[in-house]
Amino acid sequence: MQSMKKKTYYITTPIYYPSGNWHIGHCYTTVICDALARFHKMLGEEVFFLTGTDEHGQKIEKEAKSRGVTPMQFIDPLVAELKDMWRLLDVSYDRFIRTTDKDHVEAVQKIYQRLYDSGDIYKAEYSGWYCTPCESMWTEAQLKGGKCPDCGREVTLQKEESYFFRLSKYAPRILKLYEDNPEFLQPKSRINEMVNNFLKPGLNDLCVSRTTVKWGVPLPFDKNHYAYVWIDALSNYITALGYASKDDSLYKKFWPADLHMVGKEIVRFHAIIWPAILMALGEPVPKRVYGHGWLLIGGDKLSKSKQDAVKCELTDPYELVKRYGADAVRYFLLREIPFGSDGEYTNEKLLTRINADLANDLGNLVSRTTAMIGQYFGGTLPKRGKAEGVDAELVSMAEGAFEKVKSAMERLNAPEALAEIFAVVSRANKYIDETTPWILAKDESKKARLGTVLYNLAETVRISAILLKPFLTVAPKAILKSLGCSEDAGFDSLAFGGLKAGTKIEKLPPIFPRIDIQKELAAVAELVKSKHPEKKEENKVEEITIDDFAKIELKVGEVIACERVEKSDKLLHETVKIGNETRSVVSGIAKYYTPEEMIGKKVVVVTNLKPVKLRGVLSEGMILCAEDKEGNLALVTPEKAMESGGQVR
Ligand code: MSP
Repeated sequence: MQSMKKKTYYITTPIYYPSGNWHIGHCYTTVICDALARFHKMLGEEVFFLTGTDEHGQKIEKEAKSRGVTPMQFIDPLVAELKDMWRLLDVSYDRFIRTTDKDHVEAVQKIYQRLYDSGDIYKAEYSGWYCTPCESMWTEAQLKGGKCPDCGREVTLQKEESYFFRLSKYAPRILKLYEDNPEFLQPKSRINEMVNNFLKPGLNDLCVSRTTVKWGVPLPFDKNHYAYVWIDALSNYITALGYASKDDSLYKKFWPADLHMVGKEIVRFHAIIWPAILMALGEPVPKRVYGHGWLLIGGDKLSKSKQDAVKCELTDPYELVKRYGADAVRYFLLREIPFGSDGEYTNEKLLTRINADLANDLGNLVSRTTAMIGQYFGGTLPKRGKAEGVDAELVSMAEGAFEKVKSAMERLNAPEALAEIFAVVSRANKYIDETTPWILAKDESKKARLGTVLYNLAETVRISAILLKPFLTVAPKAILKSLGCSEDAGFDSLAFGGLKAGTKIEKLPPIFPRIDIQKELAAVAELVKSKHPEKKEENKVEEITIDDFAKIELKVGEVIACERVEKSDKLLHETVKIGNETRSVVSGIAKYYTPEEMIGKKVVVVTNLKPVKLRGVLSEGMILCAEDKEGNLALVTPEKAMESGGQVR
């Protein structure tokens, strides 16, 4: 007899930049993928679930240098932290790939060689404006006032040899891919974004090598050049399976991927550049790319910097798991955000979800059911007797849930799948109210009916627990254990009636204790504040009285001479006329104004500051400037012509 080949399912998360400071937004993609991976495993499919880290590039090179360590010394602890986070959240990946892994590096070199040999990578001149101190190349459009947008210094036109990938050649094939295969990129709105923003305006060939960034994969055909990080990173999806290696059996088995799950900001790389590279390699493209939305905080993408700014929200996954458990954090991520859209994150929303769904609905159902079996039947599951009208809806909902969950998961819609399971849970709670077991228990002649009611409840709890297994990893096992079932129970045991009468049922204490939301929010706010003491001061400026303000003397001055302070690239030395006197002032504005620009400027000067010497030059005041978030400065000047010496109040 011919053996049936097992269906395979290959699912990937993006590989993460080892940036540290992990927040709950980072967990979103991976927790969704984990639920999908677990779901497909439970369907009996052979699953390969890939995640990892994206470790090359200029940012890492610079960060490591600024700390005086090697890139690997810088990255290793961050990767360990990330793995720890996945362990805490019970993420069941099959491989954690690092782009610094030897097998990956070798395979990336082979990929470049193949593309070079086929003529899809070619050498050309890349011209741009070069800022020597910053080692950065800029396009004309990126310059700020003709100068380096980073440091404001002069730039020079330079031509550099680079390797380019013929991305433009693949634009028609990518468009055709979307047309022939509308499932390829989801949700649908992302197709329009790609077509209108990138494909229709026309694709340029892509510069795929760097000579300035040396923390990367050296190109096999030109050792002065290093692979562009995105090509290096995207390749992980095939190198992790042994593509271009001695053993490519996993590649043969699992490629093309069933799903690349990615955040919406990186869809362009996955839905344009990546399929073009694969087409050039002559390999099949992934079956589906899904660009999910973001977790927002205060309306913006939750990110490292935003996390600091919005101080009252606890976004640290380690702390969240410690306080509420992995199941609660996973549940929130999988249930709260409408799939494909953005969703606001607040601690209050998280706590409300935990209380409403997990503590009240699920927790209550489980503890009431197991407690009543304990109380009325000594902890032994009673027999299911004759059905009554009210039973039918509960039983049919419990029996029908799997197909609904499956359909939602086929559309990758975990929130919908969970809503289906919780509809069964809610129905069971309603069933308790309708059947009033505590009243049945008072009448010995109703004992058989009471038994049936409790059996139906126990069975609904069992089915719900099995259905919840891909989403929650702790509670379902505890529930199944309390019902005397194997923790491994799977989708093949979903038929209603699976529990055997006579089974010992253990009373389960509340699996999700109810949280006092107001108290917890206050505790969390305190905790977050204590973790950001420096921000506390920055955001909450102490109030002063008008008398305090009056202590500062501010006057209009006119810069009559200005020069650079020797051996300093930040300081300018101005001679400022203030009424009848002249003062020597040193200010840190050399990156923003040249001495020539300063001469003749009317400025606002703090005139009663204690004089100091800066780099040996006397400073008898301070010129006021406005500063934006990026640290750009602009002088504060009177809006109308104003005599020097005028008071500023
Ligand atoms: N290294 C690239 C991916 C290369 S894949 C070949 C990268 N890394 S990342 O660390 O910045 O992001 C990893 C994942 O976290 C992305 O899917 C990203 O969308 C996701 N998230 C980071 N912040 C997020 C939110 N605030 N909300 C939801 N997901 C977000 O991009």
